[in-house]
Amino acid sequence: MASVPSLASTVQQRLADALSAALPEAGSADPLLRRSDRADFQANGILALAKRLKGNPRELAGQVVDAIPANDELREIEVSGPGFLNITVSDRAITSTLAARAADDRLGVPHAAKTGTTVIDYAQPNVAKEMHVGHLRSAVIGDAMVKILEFTGEQVIRRHHIGDWGTQFGMLIQYLIEHPHELDHKTGPEDSAASGEEAMSNLNRLYKASRARFDSDEEFKARSRDRVVALQSGDEETLALWQRFVDESKIYFYSVFGKLDMEIDDPDVVGESGYNDMLDETCRLLEEAGVAVRSEGALCVFFDDVKGPDGNPVPLIVRKSNGGYGYAATDLSAIRDRVHHLKADTLVYVVDARQSLHFRMVFETARRMGWLNEDAHAVQLAFGTVLGKDGKPFKTREGETVRLVDLLDEAIDRASAVVREKAQDLTEDEIAERGAQVGIGAIKYADLSTSAARDYKFDLDQMVSLNGDTSVYLQYAYARIQSILRKAGDRRPAARPELALAPAERALGLHLDQFGETLAEVAESYEPHKLAGYLYQLASHYTTFYAECPVLKADTPEQTENRLFLCDLTARTLHQGMALLGIRTPERL
Ligand code: ARG
Repeated sequence: MASVPSLASTVQQRLADALSAALPEAGSADPLLRRSDRADFQANGILALAKRLKGNPRELAGQVVDAIPANDELREIEVSGPGFLNITVSDRAITSTLAARAADDRLGVPHAAKTGTTVIDYAQPNVAKEMHVGHLRSAVIGDAMVKILEFTGEQVIRRHHIGDWGTQFGMLIQYLIEHPHELDHKTGPEDSAASGEEAMSNLNRLYKASRARFDSDEEFKARSRDRVVALQSGDEETLALWQRFVDESKIYFYSVFGKLDMEIDDPDVVGESGYNDMLDETCRLLEEAGVAVRSEGALCVFFDDVKGPDGNPVPLIVRKSNGGYGYAATDLSAIRDRVHHLKADTLVYVVDARQSLHFRMVFETARRMGWLNEDAHAVQLAFGTVLGKDGKPFKTREGETVRLVDLLDEAIDRASAVVREKAQDLTEDEIAERGAQVGIGAIKYADLSTSAARDYKFDLDQMVSLNGDTSVYLQYAYARIQSILRKAGDRRPAARPELALAPAERALGLHLDQFGETLAEVAESYEPHKLAGYLYQLASHYTTFYAECPVLKADTPEQTENRLFLCDLTARTLHQGMALLGIRTPERL
């Protein structure tokens, strides 16, 4: 495991050294290196520096160039325009750097300089309810962030804050007491998808029936209310029935997560109920510190900058006037648990942007309490709404929320059709397996390739298209490379640093070299779409390379080896990058 500095960072370092050698009075100035179309890199930092030192930028730039000692990496540096440096690295430097990456199973990507413990709150559906597209986004984005952060060396603790507590359970449990066989299964547990479906349809039926009864039968309503009290006071029989709802829902959740090709471990599922024992204490601490005050019987936290349309302050209600605890009390208790017991220094919440005000108030309250501070901070990775093709929030034609499983099944069907059409030597089983990998990949990629904060249109036709910025395009690029590597037979990939590179080889090589830096940026900013963008560009560079540079029919055997080497490293980088997004790269498509 050896990390490999990128050419960009090597060049940046050489320039910085030359800058301080030529202009000691500049202190440590940043040469501001960027990738560029004119050369490989351009440095713009001398302009600002010249202004500061009141010098002529072109002259200063010349002095910096003179101060760079002879070396193998730089082929050419020229001063251009008002005082930019255009820098071209040597072909040898590119190939040698890539060879060092290829020799490492992490592709030379270093661990982050500073790592700690992050708790990620994601994939948090609600018990006894259907999962919808919002839950999909949280799961997909959260899962990618978990993988990316772990890859950088961060210790990641996953928390699935499922909605498993609340007054609706009084009604559900009471109904189940009066109709004890409503949750029984007909299918066996061996078929997870079928039993997941059955679990949800049982829960749905029970939910609707109990709601109808609750709304029409005053006596049932009263019994349900008593049942809430029994639940909250920990009555054993009531808790056991509540547990049945949770278990039943988990069968369903796990079947959906399974379809999503996502691993969710039971110990990481700590829902709202998991903080039940802390709620009293959380309120007491808030009140003792004066952070929360009583207002009209409720325990509230006020904020100067949070007001309703009428200009009156809108408080965060920690305990309602009837003594019930809400969402805020649970979230505040969860923060205490995550910071004090799990020893997290970063808390990430992958939650719908429509809950941003809630989190702003919860985080601010926790800061006032000192639960969040310089050593422990929290961020919401807020995501936008999923829209239908018409640009309105995604609904069925009847105006109902779309069931997540239906969407997944449809994506898999469409993808299987695409795979079947292209398939040459695939068996039916292989088509089914690839169809699932392509269909689920398509859904994940569509979500991850736009900035999380933005709304996006759910358009299956576009998602499974072979052209454009889709996972299928990336998966085909990967599979095509594998097929070339198979065809190469005993001609093996081997880096040949002595060979001159064609423009398309240089462009591909320099992009491959940026993988580690891209990941560092993505991990730091929680922006997986930048990884998706990087991979798409990688596949595009590869497509150009493939069109311009014959691999198996190259001029010399050495050139074939070197091109196979570029193919192989591209494939490995695609594979690793896609895996971090939670997307499979089948060897054959
Ligand atoms: N269950 C909630 C929902 O479906 C999301 C929970 C988000 N996490 C949290 N710690 N509040 O909207």
